[in-house]
Amino acid sequence: MKIEKARISDVPQMQQLINYFADKDEMLARSLSEIYENIRDYFVVRQGERVIACTALHVSWSDLAEIKSLAVAEDSQKQGIGDQLVEACLSEARELGIPTIFCLTYKPAFFERFGFLQVDKMELPRKVWTECYRCPKFPNCDEVALICHLPAGV
Ligand SMILES: CC(C)(COP(=O)(O)OP(=O)(O)OC[C@H]1O[C@@H](n2cnc3c(N)ncnc32)[C@H](O)[C@@H]1OP(=O)(O)O)[C@@H](O)C(=O)NCCC(=O)NCCS
Repeated sequence: MKIEKARISDVPQMQQLINYFADKDEMLARSLSEIYENIRDYFVVRQGERVIACTALHVSWSDLAEIKSLAVAEDSQKQGIGDQLVEACLSEARELGIPTIFCLTYKPAFFERFGFLQVDKMELPRKVWTECYRCPKFPNCDEVALICHLPAGV
């Protein structure tokens, strides 16, 4: 199992994976254009030609980035892939020198295992709400916000 940066040709499968779980209300749907525009944010795990998992680290500001769109295909879950994708994002954030990572999720317990702490969504900088305006759930967001402060110099 290898975590790699996504390629343009992965996008249709990534969207299918994300929107499969979005249809079950487990995460937010993504349009093809959103994924294409942000392709450099994404990591994937491939099994042959098939994309079995993805996530993204999106830089919001000088000191803040977001982990988003974490999805592992049902038949590939519980093998540590989700954990490794989060680690890949945290590691990229460290390399970039970004000290604080946040996520919005329906699975807070999964992220708490990495040291993420629940915060009031209103504590997040207003800048992060730009994409929320496009969300069908706005302004009634029912996701939980979590923040993780990366130790300095690690
Ligand atoms: C949540 C998800 C990413 C986990 O992926 P995964 O590859 O199965 O996770 P892992 O195998 O790396 O799991 C590692 C650990 O997390 C735990 N875990 C998995 N899902 C969890 C959850 N919802 N809540 C708490 N812990 C969870 C596992 O029990 C495992 O713990 P262990 O090592 O003590 O056994 C996956 O279930 C998924 O894609 N779900 C649908 C989309 C989604 O909910 N995305 C995340 C929110 S945006």
